[in-house]
Amino acid sequence: MGVHDNADSKYSVINGTNFLKFTPKKPTLVNFGETSSNKVLENETNQKDKILNDKSNINVQQQRKSLPVYKLRERLLEEIRKYNSVIIIGETGSGKTTQIPQLLLHSGIVGTSGCIGITQPRRVAAVSVAHRVAQEQAVGIGKLVGYCVRFEDVTSSQTRIKFLTDGMMVREAMTDEDLSDYSVIILDEVHERSVSTDVLLGVARRAQNIRKHKGLPPLKLIIMSATMDVDKFEKYYKAPVIYLEGRQYPIKMFHAIKSQDEYAFSALVTAFQIHREAPANEDILIFLTGQEEIEAAVVAARQVAKELNGKGYPNLKVFPLYSALPTNQQLEAFKSSVIGTRKLVLSTNVAETSVTISGIRHIIDTGVVKIRTHHPTTGLDILKIEKVSKAQAWQRTGRAGRECAGKCYRTYTKEEFAEMREMPIPEIQRCSLVGVALQLLAIGIDITTFDFMDKPPKEAIDVAISCLEKLGAVKGYPPHLTTLGRTMSLFPLDPRFTKVLLASVEHQCLDEALTVIALLSGESVFTEPPAKRDQALAARLKFASPEGDHITMLNVFKNYTNEVKKKVWCQDNYLHHRNLEYAIEIRAQLSRLTERANLEKSTCGSNTELLRKALLDGLNENLAELQRDNTYVTLATRQPVTIHPSSTLYTSKPPLVLFTEVVATGKCYIRNLSIIESSWLNAKVVSDK
Ligand code: CDP
Ligand code: MG
Repeated sequence: MGVHDNADSKYSVINGTNFLKFTPKKPTLVNFGETSSNKVLENETNQKDKILNDKSNINVQQQRKSLPVYKLRERLLEEIRKYNSVIIIGETGSGKTTQIPQLLLHSGIVGTSGCIGITQPRRVAAVSVAHRVAQEQAVGIGKLVGYCVRFEDVTSSQTRIKFLTDGMMVREAMTDEDLSDYSVIILDEVHERSVSTDVLLGVARRAQNIRKHKGLPPLKLIIMSATMDVDKFEKYYKAPVIYLEGRQYPIKMFHAIKSQDEYAFSALVTAFQIHREAPANEDILIFLTGQEEIEAAVVAARQVAKELNGKGYPNLKVFPLYSALPTNQQLEAFKSSVIGTRKLVLSTNVAETSVTISGIRHIIDTGVVKIRTHHPTTGLDILKIEKVSKAQAWQRTGRAGRECAGKCYRTYTKEEFAEMREMPIPEIQRCSLVGVALQLLAIGIDITTFDFMDKPPKEAIDVAISCLEKLGAVKGYPPHLTTLGRTMSLFPLDPRFTKVLLASVEHQCLDEALTVIALLSGESVFTEPPAKRDQALAARLKFASPEGDHITMLNVFKNYTNEVKKKVWCQDNYLHHRNLEYAIEIRAQLSRLTERANLEKSTCGSNTELLRKALLDGLNENLAELQRDNTYVTLATRQPVTIHPSSTLYTSKPPLVLFTEVVATGKCYIRNLSIIESSWLNAKVVSDK
């Protein structure tokens, strides 16, 4: 459960699948067939002259001028001048994200002081693209060109081009419904249909109308993507569509000839096939699904690279890339590699859209992604690995062909590609609406009447409103925010987690609640290297609490903060240094918000029962009860669930537990548990009446 502007933020996570059994000696190679019938290749013949063009010799400004967007700039600006809303569709790499804001800045459309806001579905994209545009403008980041993402606001009063995650823009709308800071808002990569993009599609249009009624200068709105469902957007916005013809460099497509069972394994085999054959300056990008899988693949790839050392192949440097990495480490993967060294980047979908990673010539797409789905009937929020849509597959392909010609290897067959759905399912139709409903109410919009492009199921809206009522955040009909709800809307967390923080004031354990919520907002702090599982589990016992996993995590965190040699200590104790550091960052941010909300500081010391009571106040729908036959069912919806083997409560079978994660691997496993006394529950039910 978690932080809204972060695509990998978690409520429930598929973890520990450990299907990566990469043995470098295994002789199987993935057989690829070249594909000739696809849209990227069609352009190849027209663009052949460009293949010969070595970009490294052209300076950045010349390179900008060669982009399709630059060539079509006059027509583009003319349309934008004429209409308040336009839809722009153009191939990946045509220059939409980096060039259009700069063209606007120098066109006079935004006047001498207007700001251009460009939203991105993910933090990595906002940060890396902002850096590139600052470089093209030859200015330091944070001045004329800046960015604003969850933990960082790198903008100033001089900023005129501002990249931000869509989640941050929604947060801005909460305090400024007419988005008065902006002359132009560009909603980029709208095909992703993240909840925040869908909210913004409506909120920005509403801001246009409000400004019109107030007689304020108009807000220009530009909707962009390479792979969007144009008809739908055209209908919703009644705006003209501008097609940008042409792409920069061709990409040669390959599909697996036979269906692959183990996608991560196939991807690594492919990477090493390329590594053995391609020149050293051709870097490789693999798309995988999550942190744990990527870290396992990084270990395997580094091991193989070591074995190949001294055998006449280029050096290989391996970089992980996923949302829980700190920004500076994410940006490491973007840097050009040293001459004679090949870069291998293993990324989640954070690198799927918008970004240009320097040097990438080969894309390996496994065709899978981890997505969050909410089941209103069971009330469970589950992250699952699923096939991507064709639109997403093309976006992945489009991460090559940006600096020169490229190749894309799909580790799935042509037939498997043909069966993929065209577009991703909009997140708003498959996620819990509790957080969105609260955000919309904070802007002054009732979710039940909001004009969504795709309306979420009524059932999900009702569940969300009733959950907010139970939390004390909204009341009345039409629903409106209470004072508590207003405070809750300040936190970039799922409202149920915010409620835990607010309740912890009453239970005198704010300090501990901040720690646990911060830890739950990132990835697991425990590592479990497959070869050293027993040692890892033994090390974990040192911190284990009979009260459950939340108190266990708290013990880990307390010990960690007291340690001097943190990295070594983490290694010795099989803990994730990076994830603990990330938790410290989130905790600091949440702590600042609690200060701003005037929450009284408190700590429960060793009386951690108080913390469990605070958890119950926010998460009282996440309870599971032991049955006579030793199985568990959820209290709210009688859904059968099983305690995950990684829980400290796995063997103890307490009568009642609170959970914060649901993992779907065949069975429905619950993770991150705390023991709850049924007497607390009864007292709560009585006091509610
Ligand atoms: O948004 P779209 O995919 O249309 O393109 P873009 O992100 O604006 O990038 C256009 C081109 O600029 C890329 O294809 C690269 O040639 C170049 N670029 C680059 O070389 N380095 C970057 N960091 C960003 C863009
Ligand atoms: Mg783009």
